[in-house]
Amino acid sequence: MSSSNQSPFSANIDRDPSRLRSAKWFAPDDVRSFGHRSRMKQMGWGDADFRDKPIVAILNTWSDLNTCHSHFRERAQDVRRGILQAGGCPVEVPVMSLGEMLMKPTTMLYRNLLAMETEEVLRCHPIDSVVLMGGCDKTVPGLLMGAISADLPAIFLPAGPMLKGRWKNETLGSGSDVWKYWAERSAGNLCDGAWGEIENCIARSAGTCMTMGTASTMACVAEALGMTLPGAACTPAVMAEHGRLGSATGRRAVELAWEQLKPSHIISPESIDNAITAQFTIAGSTNAIVHIIALAGRAGLPLTLDRFDELSRRVPVLGDIRPSGRYLMEDMYDAGGLGALLNQIQDLLNIDCPTVSGHTLGEQIAGQQVLNPEVIRPRTHPVSASGGTCILRGNLAPDGCVIKTLAAAPRLLQHRGPALVFDSYAELKQMIDDSDLPVTADSIIVLRSAGPLGAPGFPEWGMLPIPKKLLQAGVRDMVRISDARMSGTSYGTCVLHVSPESHLGGPLALVRTGDEIELDTAQRRIHWHVSDDEIARRRAVWKPPAVKWQRGYQALFAQHVTQAHQGCDFDFLSGSSPDCEPDIF
Ligand code: FES
Repeated sequence: MSSSNQSPFSANIDRDPSRLRSAKWFAPDDVRSFGHRSRMKQMGWGDADFRDKPIVAILNTWSDLNTCHSHFRERAQDVRRGILQAGGCPVEVPVMSLGEMLMKPTTMLYRNLLAMETEEVLRCHPIDSVVLMGGCDKTVPGLLMGAISADLPAIFLPAGPMLKGRWKNETLGSGSDVWKYWAERSAGNLCDGAWGEIENCIARSAGTCMTMGTASTMACVAEALGMTLPGAACTPAVMAEHGRLGSATGRRAVELAWEQLKPSHIISPESIDNAITAQFTIAGSTNAIVHIIALAGRAGLPLTLDRFDELSRRVPVLGDIRPSGRYLMEDMYDAGGLGALLNQIQDLLNIDCPTVSGHTLGEQIAGQQVLNPEVIRPRTHPVSASGGTCILRGNLAPDGCVIKTLAAAPRLLQHRGPALVFDSYAELKQMIDDSDLPVTADSIIVLRSAGPLGAPGFPEWGMLPIPKKLLQAGVRDMVRISDARMSGTSYGTCVLHVSPESHLGGPLALVRTGDEIELDTAQRRIHWHVSDDEIARRRAVWKPPAVKWQRGYQALFAQHVTQAHQGCDFDFLSGSSPDCEPDIF
């Protein structure tokens, strides 16, 4: 990774301080600016600290309730050091944290709130550029969405993955091994003591989930998009190099302010394609599809599920990372990181895209070597010849749905079976282990009321549990369909994001137990074997469920969130609004 803060054109930049946005607050000789300056001095800062310098915000998603960001207070100091070194003035600003593990019902409910907070915090303060500190799943899209809309110079610093889990001689992966050993425990194969030991061992350092879950996927997406320094996505959180990455990011943020290099210069249809290509070559989380659509929307770029399917067909999976593969993020870092991987698929990327480093993506990845071809496979020996994620359509999902084929049992990718329908997650939890449940390994478990509005909040319920009696009979995968999302660390033959969702009267709302459903991923098809006449009869008696939320942020969410295939942003937030700068000082 380059630690230089100078981009190729940085030396020729006009460093006239009157060009800085913060000069509107601090430069004029009037009573308002007197107030701004005097209150900066209230904090013990002199003119030399903040006058005529880029004010660089460090938007920090640290919280004692965000388990993955416990190193962020220390890391913010590294960023601050870099900003000071480069002649900027660092200001640390806390924003909503969105810790995946402890928030209920789901952090997805609050991604748009973080995006709104980010946009408005940047807009209303004397900020010239910003370092976005995020990592745990929704913090990445939330911060980036807000920064794209605010369109101030911005650079993202990923939290970095945690170290590999260890239990006896086993390597443990976040999420994936929880599901694996929970299934064994449910099947009666794992005692309480062993289960407790795994609990102690699986998360042994600061940082994000170290499988290719949503956090690592979105970090790679951010790097491929051009919003991080090279190498940022895979650097483990607790390595000394991550501290150096923090200070380099701070230094670069100062230059971004002088260069006025904004997200609108970085985000384009081509860089969005690069992000999607990165997502597929690492067999990343299906959640990234929703987030990338939302990111593109903030940049005013229409993006449909069809584009994901087109790219998925041509992009080989080279990252052999769990849950689809064998290794973990620490291994990917040791193998050369995302840059080395992308260097192998240069022909599939738009390498002329600019990045926040000031170099093009092609310049960033040129010469990056794969150091372990088991972890980052060569083109001649891919994990999969295509992207491992399919977009399906059919009469059950007219607006599309998603399946991560690489995480599914191959024998189930063409499957027809009878539906076993649950109206809610509460009903499913209550009944799934009933010994009288009318289910076989060929059944297709269907969950509705789990989408953006139905759950509400679009939770990660999509890896529906396998009934205990089937687990005890040795079944470890079966076809499951829902309008929910799925954790990036999950696996199984799970059809997700069915759109439109059942809450809005999507076809999933009308499915009954016993209906035959056919999944054919090769044909990108999901078909519900019920006649159009019968569907019409059922629709005639269907009643929309009551709206659960009547007040506050939840009511705003319920009124304005879009469907999964549209990115689940609020309908009034697409695009940026640079003309909304404060103009009265
Ligand atoms: Fe934070 Fe997985 S729980 S990244």
